[in-house]
Amino acid sequence: MERLAITTFSAIMLIIKQPADLSAYLQKERRSGKKCGFIPTMGALHQGHLSLVNRAKEENELVVCSIFVNPTQFNDPKDFELYPKTLENDIYLLEKAACDVLFLPATVQIYPPGKVHDEWYDLGELESVLEGKYRPGHFQGVCQVVQRLIHIVEPEQLYIGQKDYQQCMVIKKLLSLIHVQTNVVICSTLREPNGLAMSSRNMRLSPEEKGKAAGIFEALSYISQNIQPGTLEHILAQAGNILSRYGLRADYVEIATAADLRLIDNWNGQTEIVALIAAYMGKVRLIDNMILPLNFAGYGN
Ligand code: PAF
Repeated sequence: MERLAITTFSAIMLIIKQPADLSAYLQKERRSGKKCGFIPTMGALHQGHLSLVNRAKEENELVVCSIFVNPTQFNDPKDFELYPKTLENDIYLLEKAACDVLFLPATVQIYPPGKVHDEWYDLGELESVLEGKYRPGHFQGVCQVVQRLIHIVEPEQLYIGQKDYQQCMVIKKLLSLIHVQTNVVICSTLREPNGLAMSSRNMRLSPEEKGKAAGIFEALSYISQNIQPGTLEHILAQAGNILSRYGLRADYVEIATAADLRLIDNWNGQTEIVALIAAYMGKVRLIDNMILPLNFAGYGN
């Protein structure tokens, strides 16, 4: 049998760069009945990513994490260029978290030159609301890369963070469109002590900006604590005011149905809903969300 071209080996984590090598390795491991948990990432790892690795470790015998900054999901070339890259530290963190395999493909392995990469996924309304509206083409790019990664890794379980709420829904939709049985595990958002959702993009914020970016969490908490059935216009305006007070420039402050992200401006008090915000702190665009409680003050108690 051909020897696997595994590029680097450490005591606890394999680093594999070639898709064929990874498939061969995983096939061999699967023969002994191991279940695989997979965490796709774009690197610049933080505790949020590591919580996904830890959860995957608890629930699977084999944990694979990928790092690939996917060019097709960046609608803004500047954003792609400035996306933080901290590979050495990422490897260190993954080894410490006892991740089994790091998949580290190059762009040519995911998008081989000479091949046409023009798939289109019917994501319905998910494509045109919220992130879809402000980042045209973004979710098509996410689907392109996730489909390729899933076909290489073929995991039993895929771990993603709730911070990217709409992305979680898009990935679930993708798996149903491509008839893949992988179970999607959505993990809670980890936050800094001031409430700021952990994100690779936070690395681009100054300490002062990090402080002010907590306004997003304050606005979401305000909504969560004050929501009442009826028109949502006032509460959304108040949340917008909180963002402005912190110097955040909002792309959107919206409330939507938790199950299918339909935007609502009037709430019946019974449907599960989620508040979602995208806002700029300086040049950095941040997103966050909060699922809202049904047992709000004044209802049913
Ligand atoms: O959430 C991310 O980091 C990316 O969108 C993902 C899922 C790894 C696809 O590139």
